[in-house]
Amino acid sequence: MNKKITIAIDGFSSTGKSTVAKELAKELEYIYVDSGAMYRAVTYFAMEEGFVGTSFFDLGSLLEKLDTIVISFQLNAVTANADMYLNGVNIENEIRTLAVSNLVSTVAANSIVRKKLVAIQKEMGKHKGVVMDGRDIGTVVFKDAELKIFMNASADTRAARRHKELLEKGQEVSYEDILKNVVDRDHMDTTRADSPLVKAEDAIEIDNSDLTRAEQFDMILALVREKL
Ligand code: CDP
Repeated sequence: MNKKITIAIDGFSSTGKSTVAKELAKELEYIYVDSGAMYRAVTYFAMEEGFVGTSFFDLGSLLEKLDTIVISFQLNAVTANADMYLNGVNIENEIRTLAVSNLVSTVAANSIVRKKLVAIQKEMGKHKGVVMDGRDIGTVVFKDAELKIFMNASADTRAARRHKELLEKGQEVSYEDILKNVVDRDHMDTTRADSPLVKAEDAIEIDNSDLTRAEQFDMILALVREKL
């Protein structure tokens, strides 16, 4: 029973991938890696440096500084989750804003940015015992993952969930703006040239529009048990 596997969870934006991935990692005592947080961190860096905004993207300046960016996950003793750090500073809250969500797919489409982050992700999962969620985990980062899940839900369901989450965090955002972001990101993530979001051939697709969090967790845990 000590066999450790790699679990790749990919899917559309705001499908609750990270919720179930975190729950699985806790249950199995695996490492959880939120690869989206890494793309958000690079995007936040670019925004802070003035390299990207709603109507411009100075890719050259971002790439020049890319090597100076140190991103890491560090355990938050209060939440028991791993927070995202950028050059030693906790940016967990900053990366979850709609402003970052509106720019992240543009930054994540760049191959040099992806190369840097994929290398870190591969290193984090090299001993297995990892649950990683994102867009290209089962197709690029861990093509040989023993279990691949592809998550989906209707755009309305996803926007409503994300809207609730942001309101609970005290962010003043409209449902319409969130829905637009969800739809725009799906489009950009699925149509980009490098590592587009696509279901891996051997991934199991789950539509969680009508599933509770507990039902979804039990369903995926049963799939994990089959592999162990
Ligand atoms: O949680 P949510 O669905 O909002 O997205 P996320 O997982 O935080 O990812 C944010 C964005 O990062 C995505 O929309 C993608 O553009 C990009 N991303 C990616 O390109 N590849 C990954 N493995 C993970 C995220």
